[in-house]
Amino acid sequence: MVTGANGFLAQHLCVFLAGKGFNVLAVSKGARRIPADVLINYTSIELTDVSSVQEYIQKSAPQVIIHVAAMSKPDECEFDQAACILNNVTATETLLNAAKSKSIHFIYLSTDFIFGENGPHAENDLPNPLNFYGASKLMAETRVKELADYYTIVRPVFIYGKHWEGMRPSFIQWVAQNLRSGKSIKVVSDQLRTPTYVEDICWGILAIIQLKKEGIYHLAGKDICSPYSMALTVANVLKLDASLIEEVNSDCFPEPVKRSKKSGLKIDKAIQELNYNPLSFEEGVRNSF
Ligand SMILES: NC(=O)c1ccc[n+]([C@@H]2O[C@H](COP(=O)([O-])OP(=O)(O)OC[C@H]3O[C@@H](n4cnc5c(N)ncnc54)[C@H](OP(=O)(O)O)[C@@H]3O)[C@@H](O)[C@H]2O)c1
Repeated sequence: MVTGANGFLAQHLCVFLAGKGFNVLAVSKGARRIPADVLINYTSIELTDVSSVQEYIQKSAPQVIIHVAAMSKPDECEFDQAACILNNVTATETLLNAAKSKSIHFIYLSTDFIFGENGPHAENDLPNPLNFYGASKLMAETRVKELADYYTIVRPVFIYGKHWEGMRPSFIQWVAQNLRSGKSIKVVSDQLRTPTYVEDICWGILAIIQLKKEGIYHLAGKDICSPYSMALTVANVLKLDASLIEEVNSDCFPEPVKRSKKSGLKIDKAIQELNYNPLSFEEGVRNSF
């Protein structure tokens, strides 16, 4: 069972797992946006509705729940904190309670935003979220640890990859779209991340399911990049005009939400235990277009 199935990561995950022969139970709030030719069982469910969630899990009896659904935009979470708690924490609790004592492997998609500055961080570093989104994801992690029969927490960073109709574009598509139409863009160079190619997360999750791995795994990219350097890579790979990319620092965008300057995640544990082998950022971009 994959929640948030219409979202960027979960659409990729559904396509990937269906392609590996899994019987994928895809659930999301809205009408199906996963391409019609992908063989999955789609159901529209509001995860904050306790009785629908209980009924669905009782009836469909999943062996694994991959809980990807979230209110995932930090700005929206900051402005509507009650909705953020409802969608990110209460909905996670509802799923966990419905799954309780059914021996379901619960895989929760968290984020590097549970940490503060001084990344890249390892799995057991001390969390210190800088904004409400990060705090809500950390609260959900705690509930997963308390309530799941057995669990894995997966933390990716700045996800990018292929885009198709019905899916929101990731950062690299935004860069490509602007440069292709000759528009200049301002991109920050004073924030560091370890951007994650979406298919690498899919392979990591497959290994977690097959090896029945529990605990926390960072599934991120292997390169440390700033959004500015990522934008330059997109321009170089697609042979677009890099002079349209203006390097700025974060003071240029007075953001309502505090974000870490130096984030990113260490992936040594996943490499050792899951045989995780992520692409470089450049390879990921090449595969995304
Ligand atoms: N994107 C990143 O760079 C990034 C980085 C680190 C971690 N993450 C984490 O990875 C996960 C996936 O991120 P994403 O960017 O792929 O997310 P996304 O595109 O925003 O998709 C999230 C999906 O969750 C569904 N959803 C939200 N609330 C729901 C509810 N109450 N009931 C049912 N469905 C609900 C929505 O479905 P509908 O469209 O059907 O309404 C939405 O499509 C999230 O947990 C996020 O916190 C993301």
